[in-house]
Amino acid sequence: MDDVTRTLKEHYSGTFQQYGPTSKGVDWGRTADLELRYEKMLNVVLRDTAQPVSLLDVGCGYGGLWQYISEQKLQLNYTGIDVCENMIGWAKENQRGAEFLHGDMLSYQAQKPFDYIVANGVLTQKLDVSIEAMNLFTQKFVKAIFNQCRVGIAFNIMTTKVNFMVPNLYYRNPAEFMAWCMAEITPWVKIDHAYGLYEYTTYLYKADVG
Ligand SMILES: C[S@@+](CC[C@H](N)C(=O)[O-])C[C@H]1O[C@@H](n2cnc3c(N)ncnc32)[C@H](O)[C@@H]1O
Repeated sequence: MDDVTRTLKEHYSGTFQQYGPTSKGVDWGRTADLELRYEKMLNVVLRDTAQPVSLLDVGCGYGGLWQYISEQKLQLNYTGIDVCENMIGWAKENQRGAEFLHGDMLSYQAQKPFDYIVANGVLTQKLDVSIEAMNLFTQKFVKAIFNQCRVGIAFNIMTTKVNFMVPNLYYRNPAEFMAWCMAEITPWVKIDHAYGLYEYTTYLYKADVG
C-alpha cells in the first residue's frame, strides 16, 4: 500500500470509528451536500445505456451512495470497494442488494471491467500529504480506475477557483488538470464546475459519448 493510501485509510478508519455510518463518519460536510455529490457521480451514466449497468464505487465508505441509489430506485449493479475494514465490515452486515469489497483500489484487479467507476471524495482531502505527493497519487489513481472501466469514470477534486483554501484539502487547478487528463488519458472529457461545493466533477470516457 502506498503512503498516501495508508494516510487516508488511517484517517477515515478513525472518523468512522468515532461517528459511524454518517456524513461525519466519512468526514464529509452536510448530508444535503453529500446527496448533491452522489447526483454528480451518477451523472456519469449515459442516458441511452441499456440498464442495468455495472458501477464500481471506489472509496465507497459505508455505502452511502448505494443507500441513495436504493432510495431513488435506480437499476444499477453496484459494487463498493474501500480500504477501511471497519466501514466495509459495517456495509456487508447492514447494506442489502450490493457487493462490498475490502481492498486498496491501486492493487485491485476486477475479473471483468465495470461499465462505470466513480470515486466520490477519494481525491478531495490530502490531510498532511504534500501537494506534490498528492498530485502523483491522483494521476496514478485516475489511470488505475480508467483502466478498469468499460465506458467511463467520474470523480471530484477541490477547485483552485476559490477565495479561501483549507490546508487539509486537495485543490487542483481545473484547467491544468483537464489538460493533463486529455494529454495522458482520453480526449473524451467532461467537467462540471457549476455547483457551489468548491469542487468540480470530472468525467472521462473511453469513446465519443455524443
Ligand atoms: C471521503 S470518504 C468518501 C466515502 C464515500 N465515497 C461517500 O461519499 O460516502 C473517502 C474514502 O476513500 C477511501 N479510500 C482512499 N483511498 C483508497 C484506495 N486506494 N482504495 C480504496 N479506498 C480508498 C477511504 O478509506 C475513505 O473511506
